[in-house]
Amino acid sequence: MHRSSEPFLSENQIQDAVTRLAGEISERYRNRDNLVLVVVLKGGTVFASDLMRQIPLPLAVEYIRAKSYDGIDFLGDVLLPVLPEQPLRGKSVLVIEDILDTGRTTSAIMKTLSEHDPASLELCVLLDKPSRRVVPVDAQYIGITIEDRFVVGYGLDHDERFRNLPEIYTLEED
Ligand code: XMP
Ligand code: MG
Repeated sequence: MHRSSEPFLSENQIQDAVTRLAGEISERYRNRDNLVLVVVLKGGTVFASDLMRQIPLPLAVEYIRAKSYDGIDFLGDVLLPVLPEQPLRGKSVLVIEDILDTGRTTSAIMKTLSEHDPASLELCVLLDKPSRRVVPVDAQYIGITIEDRFVVGYGLDHDERFRNLPEIYTLEED
């Protein structure tokens, strides 16, 4: 497998989406206390680091790890081996994810976090592949809706490669 030679989404397209999302989130959380961004490892880290620097509000950052893919194949179970360190009870929790695909991982994450009794729980995804959805998931903030393609770059990997690319590419057969 290799990445496409041309970007599927350019750095400008990605950054425009990040800026728009940061504006929506900043507006929505302006008068709310105790905002906690819960970033989904590892893919959400690049997106989250750009996004949080455009949110001029007091906030805390936590990380959660969810693993459902090994290479490109879905393994079935969703594991949550890393959980937030601080109690989320009474906090305004915003989950930051790279991509919403079947919805399995994300719904498991949202269910786990809701059991921590946050004051509110919302979801922000950079990319959404609605045609792949198996489990319904509500995302309040969606960057770019894409067709059913496996994409890499800007945090997204194939076997841990390509996360560092500033653009997003499609994955292609050799
Ligand atoms: P679900 O299917 O549970 O999956 O919504 C969300 C997680 O699956 C991974 N994923 C991808 N990773 N390119 C990737 O690099 C893709 O096109 C892709 N689609 C899904 C990703 O880890 C995401 O958090
Ligand atoms: Mg992955």
